[in-house]
Amino acid sequence: MPTKTPAPGDLEPIERASRDEISALQLQRLQWSVRHCHDNVAPYRRRCAERGVHPDDLKTLADLAKFPFMTKSDLREHYPFGLFAVPRERVARLHASSGTTGKPIVVGYTLRDIEHWADLVARSLRAAGARPGDMVHNAYGYGMFTGGLGAHYGIERAGCTAVPMSGGQTEKQVQAIIDFRPDFIMVTPSYSLVIAEEFARQGMTPEQISLAVGVFGAEPWGEGMRGEIERMLGIDAIDIYGLTEVMGPGVASECIESKDGPVIWEDHFYPEVIDPETGEALPDGEEGELVFTSLTKEAFPVIRYRTRDLTRLLPPTARSFRRMGRITGRSDDMLIIRGVNVFPTQIEEQVLRDKRLSGNYQLVITRSGHMDEMEVRCEVQRELQGALSAADFDHLGRELQHRIKTMIGVSAKVSVMEADAIPRTLVGKARRVIDQRPKQS
Ligand code: DLL
Repeated sequence: MPTKTPAPGDLEPIERASRDEISALQLQRLQWSVRHCHDNVAPYRRRCAERGVHPDDLKTLADLAKFPFMTKSDLREHYPFGLFAVPRERVARLHASSGTTGKPIVVGYTLRDIEHWADLVARSLRAAGARPGDMVHNAYGYGMFTGGLGAHYGIERAGCTAVPMSGGQTEKQVQAIIDFRPDFIMVTPSYSLVIAEEFARQGMTPEQISLAVGVFGAEPWGEGMRGEIERMLGIDAIDIYGLTEVMGPGVASECIESKDGPVIWEDHFYPEVIDPETGEALPDGEEGELVFTSLTKEAFPVIRYRTRDLTRLLPPTARSFRRMGRITGRSDDMLIIRGVNVFPTQIEEQVLRDKRLSGNYQLVITRSGHMDEMEVRCEVQRELQGALSAADFDHLGRELQHRIKTMIGVSAKVSVMEADAIPRTLVGKARRVIDQRPKQS
């Protein structure tokens, strides 16, 4: 039995509304959002014209299927502010996430967008059992990543006490938890286990740790990991989902009384699941790619944004809204290494910047303890073979490692190898990613 459970009075009326009430609100907001995007974002208006659709065609929720998708490459093409629907001066904050190449993708929020975001993270925290006055240790990274500040504003909105720790410095994290005695922690699931190990190293048992609940997301995790976190920290572990393009953390979040998948806050985001090959909408329950349409966002509305996350839509249980299943994979090649999104093409770009390297490379991802490790294997050019000393190889490796860390934000081990050392497949193509991490159960 969880130690924290929401009282019925903590729910907003919409969380208990009927499906008809939810659909009516969704349709009204959807019509506003599509028109707002169409009227204020020129590239989207052009795309609609090419498809022969207009906001006037949106008479029912099902009509949304006639509208074109938005993708990460649209954000890249119109970098940095080309898809904003309000003048830049009305944007109160920017955040960013990985693009497929060196340039990140950039999103913006008006003050009202930030209010809504704070409301939804606060709602997520209440679903996890938080009450005004609880203390929340926030170990999501602060900065351009949406995790830190997104969680922070929600913690304050929920009437809780925020401890803005950000990520890293594990011993300091543990000391703060011992000294301040927070009730909640918000952090990536993999890093929570690193914190748990530090507690164990210091000889503290789960009963001695003040934390009651953790709210975990930003990377895939499964029931096996939930059990391990709950056991090692003596807490309830709750799943929170979100992505920068749609908002950040708090697009969907789990309820502590049911722990059966994140509830999608459907009054602000309209979900669809599509076949990633054909783009056809799939019925609830079938696995496919998750697509979101924002219903209230002003600065950066997204209409049918393809998340590339594979999952399914599940019927309502603890709330009136539908839930989503675990993320089982991606329909693109994005990797999440210690909570950092990494595209192989970003690494490729850094390899290609050094003319002494052949451009052939391989990423080997492993898990050591609870932490992901990435090795970048690359080769020297064939004509340089024999001309480079061991010290040159070493130097080349260190330079590439530095570029990857500063440009992509992830620490990697770099192995510079002889020419042709990386095996090609029969068709002459290298296998770019070897992911040896255990599958999430
Ligand atoms: O990771 C936002 C976030 C921060 C969510 C803190 C939860 C907590 P991005 O950096 O844009 O935003 O990465 C988004 O991370 O498309 C998923 O692939 C993955 N992801 C996020 N939450 C979960 C989760 C943030 N609960 C990408 N389970 C998404 C599995 C998740 N994958």
